[in-house]
Amino acid sequence: MGKRYSGFHIAHLNNLIEEVDLLRDLKKGPFSISKKVEFTDIIGSLSHWEHLKFLSLEELDHFSENSKRDLDHALKILNTKNNSEKIIFLQELLQCISELSEKEETFQNILRKQNRFLGTSLIRMFDWIDSVFKINFDDGTESEEIAKGSLERYYINSGLHVQSSYSQILLILKKLDINSESIIYDLGSGFGRVGFVVGILYPAAHFFGFEILESRVQKSNQISRDWNIHSKIQFITKDLGQDSESYETANIFYLYDPFQEETYKKVIEKINFVAQQKKIQIVTKGASKDFIVSLSIKNKWPPHQELQFGNICIFKNY
Ligand SMILES: C[S@@+](CC[C@H](N)C(=O)[O-])C[C@H]1O[C@@H](n2cnc3c(N)ncnc32)[C@H](O)[C@@H]1O
Repeated sequence: MGKRYSGFHIAHLNNLIEEVDLLRDLKKGPFSISKKVEFTDIIGSLSHWEHLKFLSLEELDHFSENSKRDLDHALKILNTKNNSEKIIFLQELLQCISELSEKEETFQNILRKQNRFLGTSLIRMFDWIDSVFKINFDDGTESEEIAKGSLERYYINSGLHVQSSYSQILLILKKLDINSESIIYDLGSGFGRVGFVVGILYPAAHFFGFEILESRVQKSNQISRDWNIHSKIQFITKDLGQDSESYETANIFYLYDPFQEETYKKVIEKINFVAQQKKIQIVTKGASKDFIVSLSIKNKWPPHQELQFGNICIFKNY
């Protein structure tokens, strides 16, 4: 990985590799040997797990702390580059995280078969990419937008935590069939992370993020313009609980816990309508799963795929 992704722009990931090399040298050092042996034994069969294989969760945290030191520096350099250089940086970085996330998923599943669970170690590791996109969470206007008495779930002031993590988004996108025909609807798009990742890594696909809060939509569209991905990646202010437009143009739906029950019912009816016409894929994260499971059973779709122990599900009607 270090060889494939060289240069200043992956300072963060090179740092990971250096840390891992260091950890290898320190195998007999201050870290718990028993943990390392266990860790290595379990994934012994996974020879392609090159760079993370000696890392325990604590060690990943350790890496994470150290790499933050270098991150500011890397970001300063990045900011001096032009837009196309920045996009190349992000493409390589996201591709790399995508591979790591898939490896981690494989690893977790191996552990699970042995009734063991390590937690999801990469899940929050790449939140710093928000500062590359310049996602701004708080300007204080969110709460002013809420209609009195509305039952919708706005996740006000949740900022960072209202979003799918980068490693999750990348893991999900890898499992989807995405091509130039793909039209992705993020139903409740928050601050736009999913769209930005699609725009950078899957430039052939179209993406529409629908979000009830105008301030989040404005910020997302600004970032989309800044990165020059706005011809394919668009955000629209909409209360999906009140909206009567059909979803006929879409073929991929992304739902991360966005709605109250009544809204789910309306939205699922519309998704169901589309599913009768063509091939569709649906991603759920968190509680959205239960709503789509019933749809899948009713329509006799093939079994869905579960990631991260069911927190993420991918449904396909084909
Ligand atoms: C948990 S966030 C998910 C954000 C994004 N999809 C992601 O995964 O990073 C759910 C979003 O749905 C939005 N939302 C809630 N009710 C909505 C509605 N009726 N119409 C449109 N958006 C809604 C919330 O404001 C929030 O930003």
